[in-house]
Amino acid sequence: MAENEVKLTKLARCAGCGAKVGAGVLARLLEGIRVHQDPNLLVGFDKSDDASVYKISEDLALVQTVDFFPPIADDPYLFGQIAAANALSDVYAMGGEPRLCLNIMAVPKDMPQEAVHELLRGGYDKVYEAGALITGGHSILDDEPKYGLAVTGFVHPDKMLTNSGAKPGDVLLFTKPLGIGVLTTAAKAELASQSSIACIHRLMTTLNKGARDVMVNHRVHACTDVTGFGLLGHGLEMAQGSGVELEIDVSAVDFLPEAAELARMGILPEGMYRNRSFAENSVDPGTAELWQQDLLYDPQTSGGLLMAADPADADALFEALKAAVPSAQRIGTVREYRGGKRIFLK
Ligand code: CO
Ligand code: CO
Ligand code: CO
Repeated sequence: MAENEVKLTKLARCAGCGAKVGAGVLARLLEGIRVHQDPNLLVGFDKSDDASVYKISEDLALVQTVDFFPPIADDPYLFGQIAAANALSDVYAMGGEPRLCLNIMAVPKDMPQEAVHELLRGGYDKVYEAGALITGGHSILDDEPKYGLAVTGFVHPDKMLTNSGAKPGDVLLFTKPLGIGVLTTAAKAELASQSSIACIHRLMTTLNKGARDVMVNHRVHACTDVTGFGLLGHGLEMAQGSGVELEIDVSAVDFLPEAAELARMGILPEGMYRNRSFAENSVDPGTAELWQQDLLYDPQTSGGLLMAADPADADALFEALKAAVPSAQRIGTVREYRGGKRIFLK
């Protein structure tokens, strides 16, 4: 990188999905706002789901979502790809296919034109890889750069996957390793190795399309993508929404090795603490070590899909995922809710 080139992440106060407003705060901000009803609105914002879904006809529903955040990588092309992959993910998490996207961008006055061009090129490349189009967008001037997409996709109304359909007996499957938040934070402080940084860049630019395409051929009852609220935050939303409890086998979770090392040393993103204070009253940590818990709360950017699969189909889905996702993991089971805690680590 040339000396006079801006380091994008230095312009960002918090990285990627770590910049998300905490789940508890968000719920309070939305309190008391009157929500209009429409029988065709299958999923609205009151459901804490990944995207809203609106039924157009018996066999077609619209999926809509928006995500944008400050730079999580210094290379603008990479940042563009990550932001786009992350935004597209919420459509995949509903079992849908993205079709149309709009750019959302904030750029500092003095950001070099070439860097802005590269950022956009990253977004376009990911959107085309997803089989969707960018049809426009909106840009404003801001001291801190930000980029993302509003995404519209399609899903069959009977095949949409919410985060609230998990049933007792379901098997929990997950598709990317955890620790992306820890490593992006460490990278900003120049504490992460080049190979780990390259690894999280690959993970964050990997579309959840592969996971989604396999998932829709199997009986899956619920799905969500693991992003800013971490595995336990998004898992808790699934458990509450579905009226069930989850048992997570910590030894089956794939933690990025260097993220584990850093977590043991207490190098953790701010978002981890927010996620922990939001969810911890509902989590029984069992015998999980503190660093493991921390990584389960680690905010992910463009993280994997968490699926609750019908037990009769779980083996086949797990096998099929192995060839389609960065890291197929069978991390636990769904149980009948007994009152009290929602998530049990073992
Ligand atoms: Co999501
Ligand atoms: Co979302
Ligand atoms: Co999102």
